[in-house]
Amino acid sequence: MAAHTNRWGTAAQWCVVPAFKARRLPDESDFLLGATLGVPAVTAAHCLIADGSVHGRDVLVHGGAGAVGRCGIELGRWSGARVVATVSSEAKAEVARACGAELVVDYRREDVASVIRGFSAGIHRVLEVSLAANASIDAEVCGLNAVVVVFGTEGGEATLPVRPPLFKSLSFRFILLYNFSREELERAAGEVERALDDGALTLAPITRFSLDDITAAHELQEDGPFGRVLLEIP
Ligand SMILES: NC(=O)c1ccc[n+]([C@@H]2O[C@H](COP(=O)([O-])OP(=O)(O)OC[C@H]3O[C@@H](n4cnc5c(N)ncnc54)[C@H](OP(=O)(O)O)[C@@H]3O)[C@@H](O)[C@H]2O)c1
Repeated sequence: MAAHTNRWGTAAQWCVVPAFKARRLPDESDFLLGATLGVPAVTAAHCLIADGSVHGRDVLVHGGAGAVGRCGIELGRWSGARVVATVSSEAKAEVARACGAELVVDYRREDVASVIRGFSAGIHRVLEVSLAANASIDAEVCGLNAVVVVFGTEGGEATLPVRPPLFKSLSFRFILLYNFSREELERAAGEVERALDDGALTLAPITRFSLDDITAAHELQEDGPFGRVLLEIP
């Protein structure tokens, strides 16, 4: 979040940030991994901890091969949850499995709700990247008092079913990292640091660009890359 409310902070060797935003990277974690965490990992951590522990619970991560999604799987497993992930291809399913998802469902080819219901008696927390696509699925697979944390806007506007969420007392929580209080930010970042200490976070597939090729890096990012786009700063 170096660039948030800051004139500088990205594509730079150095930048100035408030001290609480300068986080510790364990000696064993390399800078490549550190560069891929930041916003996605802190977002995923907040989704998992803001409404109570997921230890021993079932968690559903939509878009499990995405930047937030893979962190959600790894942090969910590290927190002691069983993790179910949705993806759109076999290559992405492999990524989600490698991150530790116990069940991976291809949302383009499978009946997501019925596959998940065959696996879980009730999902307790959902990391939702596309409420537009998944509102009914979430309502169907969630257990009593579950929380659907909406962090993404993929697919645009959503239509919410009313009866299933009402009868299960579900909550739909919408979050934006830039609105976190300093306490929430520190708590989520602390969670990421502890997971890093335990070696629970791994490097996503990456495509590297030199700083001179920053235009191509942006173009690939716009296209929705497989994995992460990293700039190598001299
Ligand atoms: N609220 C916040 O504070 C916050 C923080 C970080 C990111 N975000 C937002 O969250 C979204 C994801 O960010 P990201 O960095 O993880 O992007 P990303 O790496 O591009 O991942 C996007 C993911 O969305 C998945 N997806 C799209 N439609 C889906 C559907 N119908 N069902 C299941 N998965 C679906 C994609 O999966 P497939 O490719 O398999 O379809 C992909 O894995 C972006 O909109 C971003 O702006 C918000």
